[in-house]
Amino acid sequence: MDGNDQVLAAEDLYKFFGTAAGKFAVVREVSFSVPRGKLVTIMGPSGSGKSTLLHMVSGLEPPSGGTVHLAGHDLYALSERGRTLLRRDTIGFVFQFYNLIPNLTVAENIKLPLMIGAGEHAVVAAGGGEADAPGEDHFRQLVADFDLEAKLGSYPHQLSGGEMQRTSIARALIARPTIVMADEPTGNISTSAGEEVMRLFRRSCDELGQTILLVTHNPRDAAFSDEVHFLKDGELHEEHRLAGDAVTPDGIAHSLNTLGI
Ligand SMILES: Nc1ncnc2c1ncn2[C@@H]1O[C@H](COP(=O)(O)OP(=O)(O)O)[C@@H](O)[C@H]1O
Ligand SMILES: [Mg+2]
Repeated sequence: MDGNDQVLAAEDLYKFFGTAAGKFAVVREVSFSVPRGKLVTIMGPSGSGKSTLLHMVSGLEPPSGGTVHLAGHDLYALSERGRTLLRRDTIGFVFQFYNLIPNLTVAENIKLPLMIGAGEHAVVAAGGGEADAPGEDHFRQLVADFDLEAKLGSYPHQLSGGEMQRTSIARALIARPTIVMADEPTGNISTSAGEEVMRLFRRSCDELGQTILLVTHNPRDAAFSDEVHFLKDGELHEEHRLAGDAVTPDGIAHSLNTLGI
């Protein structure tokens, strides 16, 4: 595969944290990549280093060692400002606890990335732009696909967990980011709402060519992926990596069993 087809490439990443007991590695020797248009999952139990890894590959937390290439840029060779802009322009984030703005409506939350000018496709919604505002078609499409029409004027506290997460995914997709990064997006919602969320991710890959990196401890989520990496105690176990047709609930259960996680 040619390098341009990798949206994200992590090479030999390490992260050490210091505690009173000394320095310990939370992430060790981790390399993986995310091909364009694919849904790649990093799966591991609580405390295995998933969030730390996601923070490193998204530019939020410098690694103790190793490199990250995001959208063709050596992430940690950039200035802090350069990294912030690259993150803003290329990544759509989805979090376990949604991170919606409480005093904005669903519609306003979804459109937020357009207002702050993220991405080459993003546009600043001009005052009074109404139906013709650039980005409006995509907004309408997402709202319909995500079944949020009836909720556009609601505030986050008036929504179910599933509705909040669908809102936050629509917000992540609105500026057509190069990659969506999701940290345990189904961790706080019901099983059926979680399945709906994963179907929406799968669909945005299949229909929009969206690239997605997901971290989760949930095997049901992982089963929607093109590729699954297994993280245990901060290490990726490449011999258990699953791809393509091998990504099945049984295959995932088998890898988890063999790894003892
Ligand atoms: N800033 C930090 N300082 C010290 N230890 C940390 C820090 N962040 C995470 N850790 C530790 O690193 C380990 C992995 O954490 P995390 O990446 O959050 O795992 P996960 O997301 O898989 O649950 C945990 O033991 C956690 O306590
Ligand atoms: Mg975490």
